[in-house]
Amino acid sequence: MMIAPSILAADFSKLGEEVRAVESAGADVIHIDVMDGHFVPNLTMGPSVVASLRKRTRLPFDCHLMVNHPEKFIEPFAKAGANWISVHQEVCDLRTVLPMIQRLKCKAGIVINPSTPVEVLYPYLVQADYVLIMSVHPGFAGQKFIEESIQKIKKLKKYLDELNQSIPIQVDGGIQKNNVKVVVEAGADIIVSGSGIFGTPDYKETIGFMKSVL
Ligand code: DX5
Ligand code: ZN
Repeated sequence: MMIAPSILAADFSKLGEEVRAVESAGADVIHIDVMDGHFVPNLTMGPSVVASLRKRTRLPFDCHLMVNHPEKFIEPFAKAGANWISVHQEVCDLRTVLPMIQRLKCKAGIVINPSTPVEVLYPYLVQADYVLIMSVHPGFAGQKFIEESIQKIKKLKKYLDELNQSIPIQVDGGIQKNNVKVVVEAGADIIVSGSGIFGTPDYKETIGFMKSVL
């Protein structure tokens, strides 16, 4: 199991320090939420933020693109230092976008919104390096976990097990110490958590607890 703190919930006035703090607290990957004000009703970070942070940590950067036309932004984020890039099924042609990400030597992930059925992923699983199931409506940190996501995770996990395929399942939104166990038990391999980590006083204790539920 991997823990991916989402820096959307960090203190933006000291982002570099926040990244280093979760790195030394045991984070495995840094989750970076990219929003364009169109696909989601919020604006966040662009490639220049990623390039600045790249100098601060050796952890992989997981850029979650919540933008329309994600294909336009893949190269800028890869050049800035992204290692994983995920794109939403709802806004792009995965058959062309996933190979585009992989050609730039990044891992390619597919994301689905809470309202998108998990079955839409099935035709693309052979091409993807990971999948991301959103457990809140994308746009903001600090929302409540949508319980129906558990069934989606279980369904995908079962489907993958039946195919003997082991693509990592990432889950993002509303995950904290008090519900991480059910998410992991449902089949999640990579836990994204924003306020569930950055909203707590001791990142090391929180990440350590999340890892202990395995
Ligand atoms: C939501 C983002 C999430 C979010 C997670 O649009 O994709 O990554 O930052 O934050 P929490 O864990 O606070 O829900
Ligand atoms: Zn995210």
